[in-house]
Amino acid sequence: MPQIDAEAAMRPPELGHGQPSSALLGIDHLLRIRSNQLAFYCELRDRHGDAVRLRLGPYRTWLLFHPEYVEAVLTREWQHFIRFEKLTNVVKQWNGPSLLLAEGSEWRERRRKVMPAFQSKRMPTYAAAAIDHAHRLTLQWSHLAGARREVAIDTDAVMARLTLDIATTTLFGAEPLPNGDEIQKAIQVLSDTAFHESTVPVVLPDWRVLPSKRRKRWAMELMDSTITGLVRRRLDDFASGGLRDRGDLLSMLVEHHEGNASEIRNDSMSLLIAGHETSGALLSWLFACLANNSVELSLVQAELDAALRERLPTLSDLRSLPVTTSAIEEALRLYPPAYSLFLRQATADVAIGDLRIRKGDNVQIVPHALHRDPRWYEEPQAFKPSRFRQAATWPQFAYLPFGAGPRVCIGQNFALMEACLVAATILRKWEPAPLATMPKPSAKFSLRPRCGLPMVWRSRA
Ligand code: HEM
Repeated sequence: MPQIDAEAAMRPPELGHGQPSSALLGIDHLLRIRSNQLAFYCELRDRHGDAVRLRLGPYRTWLLFHPEYVEAVLTREWQHFIRFEKLTNVVKQWNGPSLLLAEGSEWRERRRKVMPAFQSKRMPTYAAAAIDHAHRLTLQWSHLAGARREVAIDTDAVMARLTLDIATTTLFGAEPLPNGDEIQKAIQVLSDTAFHESTVPVVLPDWRVLPSKRRKRWAMELMDSTITGLVRRRLDDFASGGLRDRGDLLSMLVEHHEGNASEIRNDSMSLLIAGHETSGALLSWLFACLANNSVELSLVQAELDAALRERLPTLSDLRSLPVTTSAIEEALRLYPPAYSLFLRQATADVAIGDLRIRKGDNVQIVPHALHRDPRWYEEPQAFKPSRFRQAATWPQFAYLPFGAGPRVCIGQNFALMEACLVAATILRKWEPAPLATMPKPSAKFSLRPRCGLPMVWRSRA
């Protein structure tokens, strides 16, 4: 069994940085990124070290693989990096200026206004919604299974729909939207569009008569009319004396954005898009990992049986579920939905140790590669939740499922709470059967199983 080399872990990043040769201004690199970026990044790290300089079109891009570099970019020097504009402009087409995309004082102001929606005193209402939707799902499964006591479903599609329904209730206080399947499809189209438009050398104009452009227009219009409609209804309701705080995220956005409809619409869209697909992906990977690790699954089940017996979980159960929590943390390590952070661009020359990053250079940080680095993790490819129940063997910035520093995920606590309560609600009654093979990941907007997650669930009754 490989041992963590404690000395290597403390050693500073390798001196002398790699620069792979490239053809055609880096189009060959762009093609590798489009076809299998995770393998490409690991290959670059193994061949060229902790800081790899790539040419991608007109841009010089640094891939940073050492936690010390990562820490500097995300914390000490964070003011000198902004989200790469070419990328944010893609997402702005449907998201508008919002917390996810803003910079400087505009970002600070938005973060201050959105933060109150995530205060811990608001969590019990969000938790109740997560448990309620997950419970309804298990009742549907019982109905579907009948006497067979098992259901075969695409767990990835079901988790995406479940997290959309939870987001609809926690964000907008609404029952699942009647067109939820369409909304889910629209978010998928926009995620694919974001990935496509940010990784092709030339984006064709939207007026071109192409099926992909038609799909993009449809998705943008549907998302805009749905979110704008929900926001407008709430503002009208307030104007006619309706309840100000309904316990949802929208109430907070309305209050702190002082009724500014377009700001509320943009930040609602941001939260929905940033939160829903990532949370669904986390649950899919968690269930896939547990399905193929019977010992870990039994440990989680034993913990849930002891803590809950016959009842549904509540928010206050979270602290008595360390095994379930560690399984979630480990799934996030192996399959971080945000497998790569937003590409950042330097706004000034920045020196980080021996690195000289020039103004205009791009910087890419890849949690997926950091999380599987054998310098920090023993058996890095294995699903071993117990590593999160002991003292960490890795430096702080080698584990980044939610990013770090001032721009750390604002929904982190919400997402962990939701994952744990949904997993507990489902796994107390149902167990995933082993998969023939672990699904291959597809790294697009977020890390999802490439061909869905067909899975058999068996009733534990
Ligand atoms: C498992 C679920 C989630 C994962 C893995 C995740 C991951 C991340 C990561 C890595 C970042 C930082 C990106 C960067 O610095 O480049 C981020 C930012 C963000 N996340 Fe999440 N997220 C999740 C759930 C959520 C939820 C539930 C919400 C809201 C309801 C949310 C809203 C946001 C927003 C608004 C930002 C931008 C914050 C800022 O720039 O100030 N996320 N997320």
